[in-house]
Amino acid sequence: MEKAFYITTPIYYVNDLPHIGTAYTTVAADVLARYHRLKGERVFFLTGTDEHGQHVARAAEKAGVTPQEWADQMVTHFTEVWKRLNISNDFFIRTTDPRHMRVAQEFIQKLYDQGDIYLDVYEGWYCVPDESFWLPSQLVEGKCPQCGREVDMLQEENYFFKLSAYGDRVLEHILNNPDFVQPEMRRNEVISFIKQGLTDQSISRKNLSWGIPLPFDNSQVMYVWFDALLNYVSAIDYGVDQARFESIWPADWHLVGKEILRFHAIIWPAMLMAAGLPLPGHIYAHGWLTVEGEKMSKSKGNAISPHVLLDEFGVDAYRYYFMREFSFGYDGNFSRETLVGRYNSELANDLGNLVSRVLAMVERYRGGIIPEPSEMAGDDQVLEETSKRTFREVETHFQNLSFNEALSSIWSFLKVVNRYVDETAAWDLNKDASKARRLDTVLYNQLECLRLVALMIQPFMPDTAQKMWTRLGGKGPVSSCRLPTSTAWGLLEPGGRINKGPALFPRIETDK
Ligand code: ME8
Repeated sequence: MEKAFYITTPIYYVNDLPHIGTAYTTVAADVLARYHRLKGERVFFLTGTDEHGQHVARAAEKAGVTPQEWADQMVTHFTEVWKRLNISNDFFIRTTDPRHMRVAQEFIQKLYDQGDIYLDVYEGWYCVPDESFWLPSQLVEGKCPQCGREVDMLQEENYFFKLSAYGDRVLEHILNNPDFVQPEMRRNEVISFIKQGLTDQSISRKNLSWGIPLPFDNSQVMYVWFDALLNYVSAIDYGVDQARFESIWPADWHLVGKEILRFHAIIWPAMLMAAGLPLPGHIYAHGWLTVEGEKMSKSKGNAISPHVLLDEFGVDAYRYYFMREFSFGYDGNFSRETLVGRYNSELANDLGNLVSRVLAMVERYRGGIIPEPSEMAGDDQVLEETSKRTFREVETHFQNLSFNEALSSIWSFLKVVNRYVDETAAWDLNKDASKARRLDTVLYNQLECLRLVALMIQPFMPDTAQKMWTRLGGKGPVSSCRLPTSTAWGLLEPGGRINKGPALFPRIETDK
C-alpha cells in the first residue's frame, strides 16, 4: 500500500477550552490535509487531546471531579469545535485511551530494557501549566522562561532518559536535513540549544497519580510529555499492527506552536532513535497569535472562542482569515477590524461579487445555460495562462506551508478575472447580435475561471468551493476533483445549467 501522507497537530491539553490559538494549528493542518487529498494522495490527518499531567489533575480537582470525568467532559468541547470548523481529521487520539497507554508502556519498557533509562534524583524547577522541567540557570527572574509563571521546586526520585547520549545524532540529523526543522530561524534556535549541551531528561513523576504507570515501577507515572509525544505512533498502531504502522509512519509534517518545538525537534527524535524508528520528515513551528496586541490568557480573560467568530462570520470566512492574515512562521495579532476588513473586501467583494455577477449574466443573457465557447482571443489566453501559473504557485507555497502566499496568489488570479469581466463588458456585447459568439466565449471563460477558483480554494474553504461547484452545475463533490488533471482549461461542459443562488458572503455593515 502507498504510504500515507501523515500530518499531525499537537494534542491539546484538556485543562482549558479550545481558543483561536489552538484552532490556528488545527485549521492549518486541515488545509494541508485537504490539499494533499486533492492531489490524490492517501492522507492520514491526526489530532487529539493530551489528558494526563499535573495541570489537568489540578483543573479537575478545582472542579471537584475526577481527572477522567474532567477529561471526558472537556474533550467534547474540542470535538465539537473541530466539527464546526470543518476539520477532516482521520482519527482523534486521546491519551487516556487504553490502547495509547499500552503502547506508551511498551515503548518505555523497551527503552528501559536496553539501558536508555535510569533512576536518579531530580532536583530543580517545574512549571505546572507548561509541564516543563527547568534548570535554575534557565529561569528568568525566578519564573518559567516559557510562560513567565511561578515554578515549583521539585526534589524527587525520577527515571531519566539518556537524552544526552543522542544529542550528537539529533544535531547531525538536523544539520544534514535542512528542511527537517522549519522555519529557518527556529531551526537555528534548536541547533544552538543542542550545541549548548543536552542534559538527560526526567521522564517520570513520583507524587502524581494522574498519568500512565511505569511498567517497571508502578509507584511512578510517565512524564506527561513522554506520554504525549507517543500519541503520534500509538494512534497508528505502533506495536499493535506493524503493517498498518509502516503504511503511515513516518509523519510527513508535525505542525506545532513555537513554544513546544524543543520537545518535537530534540526529545522526540531522540526517543525515536532510541526505539530504532525513522524520524518524521518535517517539523514546522508556527508563530503565536495575540489578541488586540496582548497574549491570550485565562487570567486576562481575553482568549477568544472560535464559536464567537463562527457565529458571526461563518466557517469559511474564519478559515480564510486565519490562513490569509498571518504568515505561518511568524507571530501575528488578531483584531476584529482586520477580520471585517478582509471579509468585506476579499470575500464579499473580490470573490462573492464576482460569482454573483458572472452567474447573473449567464442567467440573463443565456437563460442559465453554459454557452459553447469559440476561438480564444489574446485576453482569453491570459486567463488560461494565469490560472496555470496560479496552480503552480499554489503548489510551491504548499510545499513551504506558506498558506497566506497561496491565498495571495489565488486572489491575484481573482483580480485578473474581475478585470476580464469589466473589460470584456458582456452587457455591451449583448446589445449587438453580431457579437453573440464572442459573448458565448466571454461568458464561458468567466464560468471556467469560477470552476478553477473553486478548485483552488477548496482546501481553504471547502463549503464555499462546493457551493460554487454546485452552482456551476458540477456533479458530485468538488473534493473528488484531482490536481493537476482537473486544472486543465476547458473542462466545464457547455450545455449544463447554472444555479444563481444567494450572495456567498453578504457584506458586513461596519458602522453597526
Ligand atoms: O502544549 N497562538 O498543549 P496546549 C498560536 N499538550 N497557537 C497557539 C496559541 C496561540 N496563542 N496557543 C496555543 C500542549 N496554540 C501539549 C502538546 S503534543 C505531543 C503535546 C497552539 O493545549 C499551538 O499549536 O498547550 C501550541 O503548540 C498548542 O496550541 C499548545 O497546546
